[in-house]
Amino acid sequence: MGAEGRVMEPTEGRTESQETAPGTRERVFSGMQPSGEAHLGNYLGALQHWERMQDDYECFFCIVDEHAITGEYTPDELPQRTFDLAVSFLAVGLDPERSTIFVQSDVPEHTELSWLFNAVTPVGDLERMTQYKDKSAHLESVPAGLLNYPVLQAADILIYRAHVVPVGEDQLQHLELTREIARRWNARYGPLFPEPRGVVGQAGRIVGLDGAQKMSKSLGNTVGVLAEPEEIWDRVRTAKTDPQRVRKSDPGRPEMCNVYSLHEHLTDPDALYDIRDQCRGATRGCVECKRILADSIAERFAPFRERAEGYRSRPQDVVDVLESGARRARSLARDTLDEVRERMGLGWRGAARSASTRTGSVSP
Ligand code: TRP
Repeated sequence: MGAEGRVMEPTEGRTESQETAPGTRERVFSGMQPSGEAHLGNYLGALQHWERMQDDYECFFCIVDEHAITGEYTPDELPQRTFDLAVSFLAVGLDPERSTIFVQSDVPEHTELSWLFNAVTPVGDLERMTQYKDKSAHLESVPAGLLNYPVLQAADILIYRAHVVPVGEDQLQHLELTREIARRWNARYGPLFPEPRGVVGQAGRIVGLDGAQKMSKSLGNTVGVLAEPEEIWDRVRTAKTDPQRVRKSDPGRPEMCNVYSLHEHLTDPDALYDIRDQCRGATRGCVECKRILADSIAERFAPFRERAEGYRSRPQDVVDVLESGARRARSLARDTLDEVRERMGLGWRGAARSASTRTGSVSP
């Protein structure tokens, strides 16, 4: 299984191998909201792909705290959530030696570019975004930031002129809008931005332990990537299985069971046949099956806990990683923004220069 899953525009897929010099690798950008310690859904849906992409791409991984403030949130908790997500990034193997890891608000160029993009983004396009419609539906007063959320997302990506954006399926529409913004801007001000392609990991939509909804921290249907084995078991034992399998003697349907689909992501492929077989034949009960799953998770997460422990005992290292990431990101972002400002007519000093040449040409 490659790091790339379903590609939005197959015709634009990368064909040649990436055995090129570091400077010429394609650029990847992705972002995640600061929700504290990452969980199994973040890992399967995003982080494991990000981690693998580091081998082939020049990667930028961003904690998008300025997106987080467009929704319900507690200001007092945001710093800890940002820090904890950073620890999770490092724990799962995002590598500051190879990738640029940083916090969005440390690079104010993103928000500046998003304002400039607002000038080429039709409100109608923003109002059509499914995520916007879902989130604004139950609000009495809709913050403008919720509507403009995808414009900031486009700026995140395009400011680095990224080519590839690993995202969850629910973000493909925002990616399409990003491409549209790039097209419109390029058409009006001259070619500058590549149209980035969205890549959805093979894991697809990860359903939570409740067997019903998308795995998400706010729904409490998940397990943290830094959980200890006992805690993993505590969470996994509560997982919903095939609802038709009430007694152990009832034959189960793996294809209808979310525990089985998690096995597919986490358990040794050689063991899957037996797990399916013994479920269908009612020779293994759900509790035992969940035990195996909990063990698979614990095994996968073990190195993460170890790395996290190191970082937690040296929090300054995390700060250093994020600050040097931000410095590097900023210098690239600055270059793009300078060019954008110039082309959009904000480089007003040019007027003073040409005035002086005009004056110079008339005086003897
Ligand atoms: N909107 C994304 C999400 O909720 C997070 C995000 C912000 C992002 N900026 C991004 C993802 C840029 C990819 C690229 O998942």
